[in-house]
Amino acid sequence: MADLLGNLRKTHHCNQLGAEDVGLEVVLMGWVQRRRDHGGVIFIDLRDREGLTQVVFNPDIHPEPHAKAHVIRSEFVIGVRGRVALRPEGMVNPNLATGAIEVIVSELRILNPAVTPAFQIEENIEVSEVTRLTHRHLDLRRPRLQKNIILRHKAGASVRQYLNGNGFLDIETPFLTRSTPEGARDYLVPSRVNPGQFYALPQSPQLFKQLLMVSGFERYYQIVRCFRDEDLRADRQPEFTQIDLEMSFIGEEDIMAISESLIAYVFQEVLGQSIPLPLPRLTYNEAMARYGLDKPDIRFGMELKEISDIVKDSGFKVFADVVKKGGIVKALNAKGCVEMSRKEIDDLTQFVAVYKAKGLAWIKMREDGWQSPIAKFFTEEEKARLSERIEMAPGDLIFFMADQPKIANEALGQLRNHLGKKLNLIDPKAFKFTWVTQFPMFEWNEDEKRHEALHHPFTAPLEEDYDLLEKEPTAVRSRAYDLVLNGFEIGGGSIRIHDMELQSRVFKVLGMDEATYKGKFGFLLEALQSGAPPHGGLAFGFDRLIMLLCGESSIRDVIAFPKTQKAACLLTGAPSDAAPAQLDELSIRIKATAKV
Ligand code: AMO
Ligand code: AMP
Repeated sequence: MADLLGNLRKTHHCNQLGAEDVGLEVVLMGWVQRRRDHGGVIFIDLRDREGLTQVVFNPDIHPEPHAKAHVIRSEFVIGVRGRVALRPEGMVNPNLATGAIEVIVSELRILNPAVTPAFQIEENIEVSEVTRLTHRHLDLRRPRLQKNIILRHKAGASVRQYLNGNGFLDIETPFLTRSTPEGARDYLVPSRVNPGQFYALPQSPQLFKQLLMVSGFERYYQIVRCFRDEDLRADRQPEFTQIDLEMSFIGEEDIMAISESLIAYVFQEVLGQSIPLPLPRLTYNEAMARYGLDKPDIRFGMELKEISDIVKDSGFKVFADVVKKGGIVKALNAKGCVEMSRKEIDDLTQFVAVYKAKGLAWIKMREDGWQSPIAKFFTEEEKARLSERIEMAPGDLIFFMADQPKIANEALGQLRNHLGKKLNLIDPKAFKFTWVTQFPMFEWNEDEKRHEALHHPFTAPLEEDYDLLEKEPTAVRSRAYDLVLNGFEIGGGSIRIHDMELQSRVFKVLGMDEATYKGKFGFLLEALQSGAPPHGGLAFGFDRLIMLLCGESSIRDVIAFPKTQKAACLLTGAPSDAAPAQLDELSIRIKATAKV
């Protein structure tokens, strides 16, 4: 078969040539972005991953390639040889890196024709995400996605460079393994040779990296895929990538220092932006008090204020009763929003209802006093104290939420983020980091009537809280820390338990009896008894980090082949049926009710 390329080989990419190259003979290859046929001369914008170059077929200069160029359509793959020339006056395109020149084609090879694409490969296409994901190979041709994927590569390379230079070893850990609890459901893989038994895909390499510390590797990292069967959102995928680290003979300060230097290095390498270190810190309790969320967006103020003490005996029953039942009342001052309409306030009430809030009381602060359905319930003294605490000034609109702390904080915290965007309080170019430290060790799961690990069960409690482990588990603070960027949790980790007795106590608090935890984690307990160094680590959500570096709002736009909300790959049609013979081999029978 004839070699289509012949002796043609790319000499330059499509974003490379400029006025200084005029007269040079070049070979370019790529995809046809656009073809304009002006009767005589044919112009083509040729595209490759770097950019666009205009190539010109002029019948008067080179009739042969011009004659061949008539059949060319969008997305044809072509190779051209030609000479770089300055564009005629008035034809220069200052918006294009190569806008000063064009290439006058002397030889054309059509490397492959293309059917009309499902959508135009252009920046601002109005195509549904379903169509984009179904034809992802086309979607990925769009410059924005190409830029994102290239940036992702650069960020990954700089992560490796930094960690390799700091004594970390890149060590792979298995995908076919036992469950590693990180709070999601497992993806199970049936074992053919062990009928009725299953591997779990790792939710993270957590236990393996701890075992590597026990084995003496001291500093480990891996850019690694993790699998979690959980409800998907814009910042969550069923398979995602972590920058996973673990270190021995260290405390939280060391891990936090290495992690923030790593992040600063990546920002410098990828965006040329310097991140001032050390990064600020909040304890979990401070974050909840001031922002209502454990991943606060600190790009803007508008902090929450607790007012339970002021309203606990007030005439407004809703507030007083909530405080009596152990709840809290908090306020959010939307400065200068006094003119917000009833409709808008109703919409915000709907917004907080999603987070299970039962209502959203409000006060408008006018020059001549309070305007509010609840104003009548408060004494002058209570009003004065509220005004002072919430720093109310004429022009302000104040929102109130009374509920159990979990609901009140979450709903008001989300409202704060929502208003931050709506009121344009956020500089979209800013990168604001904060550590959140001293997370509670456990959370009470009301449905299952048991304590759950807030981070994971291998996180060490603060030493001064050991005594509370059995007595008051929810009061135990942990040695866990998260790194938050612009309101996204981009990383989390902890100092681990390296003592077998303590680990067993924690398993018990989590409601496991000895037989259960030995059955599940016997290998870990054995390792902890065989000379486990003090150790700890952290994992960054690589996709989230890249999303923020790219200024995107969904991690799907920084993953080459992402999945939909229903965990489907529209391109390949996964997940799909398995052949009966395959299922038989795996000793699996599908329930008749499994399909609708
Ligand atoms: P954690 O569960 O907090 O910790 O995960 C670490 C980081 O991974 C990212 N992340 C996700 N990104 C996209 N899609 C998901 N479904 C998803 N889930 C988590 C987040 C998160 O901060 N083994 C521990 C780390 C440790 O203790 O060292 C762990 O996995 O950015
Ligand atoms: P009601 O007395 O139920 O008509 O409520 C009066 C105002 O208080 C309304 O604006 C409600 O939205 C608000 N409200 C009701 N319950 C709560 C609550 N738990 N927290 C904050 N505001 C509430």
